[in-house]
Amino acid sequence: MIKMNRTPFTISGYAEEEYFCDRKKETDTLIRLIKERHNIALVSPRGMGKTCLIRHLFAQRTVKSKYNTFLVDVHETESLCDMAVCFAKALIHESSVKGKKFLGDMLSSVNSIRSCVYFDYEGNPNLREDLSDRIEAESILDEIFSFFGSAGKRCIVAIDGFRRFPSYGSEVDKTVKYLRALTERNANVNFIYSCSGKYTEGQMSSGEYKSFFEGMTIFGLSPIPKESYCSFATEMFTLNGDRKLEYDAAVKVYDMMEGITANMQRLLNYLYLRTLPDHTCSLDDVEDGLKEYVNMTSYPYEEIYGLLPPVQRKVFSAIASEGRATNVTGSEFLSRYGLSASSVSSALRGLLSDDIISRENDAYMVSDRFLRFWYVYAKNDGLV
Ligand SMILES: Nc1ncnc2c1ncn2[C@@H]1O[C@H](COP(=O)(O)OP(=O)(O)OP(=O)(O)O)[C@@H](O)[C@H]1O
Ligand SMILES: [Mg+2]
Repeated sequence: MIKMNRTPFTISGYAEEEYFCDRKKETDTLIRLIKERHNIALVSPRGMGKTCLIRHLFAQRTVKSKYNTFLVDVHETESLCDMAVCFAKALIHESSVKGKKFLGDMLSSVNSIRSCVYFDYEGNPNLREDLSDRIEAESILDEIFSFFGSAGKRCIVAIDGFRRFPSYGSEVDKTVKYLRALTERNANVNFIYSCSGKYTEGQMSSGEYKSFFEGMTIFGLSPIPKESYCSFATEMFTLNGDRKLEYDAAVKVYDMMEGITANMQRLLNYLYLRTLPDHTCSLDDVEDGLKEYVNMTSYPYEEIYGLLPPVQRKVFSAIASEGRATNVTGSEFLSRYGLSASSVSSALRGLLSDDIISRENDAYMVSDRFLRFWYVYAKNDGLV
């Protein structure tokens, strides 16, 4: 095979299998669960690789041959109507892959979108932007699901970006109820809800969305095992035959980024770029590269930090200094950072709701690990 002379660490979207690390066990488990007709909530902290895992699953030959697959990206949605448009887009996308017959069958079932479909200059179907002004969300979704029911093969519908629902405002309850009803009454469809951010497994088994997740199989996506990712990283460095990554340097990347795939890929992408052909990226290069990368991309971090109200900033700084902060209302933490329990609690509410700080089990951490490193470097350099 001819190798592309490009950075082998993808940082957006799903690349080909060759650039995809591991996830064999997870892919096999998902295939088995789907075969047994489970509806799945795929959960992890941000950037662990949920969307790519779904794409990887959909790219498997056995999945392609047995199922119609739809990835519905609801990240940018703010209402059930927006969501219906996303479903329509996913259908159109699948039609452009599957061809004219599928498109024809689909349009004769899903009448409401027929008048909004046009063909671009390459002959691919597209949806007109003003679709959302013309449709009634529930009736279009009903038509879409009745098409799923009659489409021959079973369907896998992945709803990606479930974390957006709290921003649906007054439509949250309506949307959640509607989706729950869809999930229950469509026996021909397997749902995968990809959830991150505020949805932790704990929040799913209690709290306001408990009834929504009841009956679903909660699949927690863990970091790729260290050995597997580090072998992948060293192998990727040599893909174009001219650079090397020390194994210990790969381990350092893994540890610093706490196994979060998106962050490891971002850092390695940069480390690859700054390693000259025929050179080796060493342990020291990882430190230098991270600092360089954080300095280069510092603008949004300065802005986020600069806009924090004083007490939130103090609590943010304390958590960033710790890395993973536990017992944040305990006397040791409070006296170390000159805080009071009530100020920590109120500041945390804002920081968590803005996703600047995340909580995993009993520990708090800066959600974007690069923001955390920016803070640590800026503090060491006396800039904050
Ligand atoms: N197995 C993998 N091998 C190589 N790169 C991967 C893998 N999984 C994910 N990535 C990379 O990590 C990045 C983040 O992955 P992805 O978008 O799937 O995470 P996510 O869990 O869906 O994030 P979010 O919670 O923000 O939606 C991707 O852009 C991709 O480049
Ligand atoms: Mg995602």
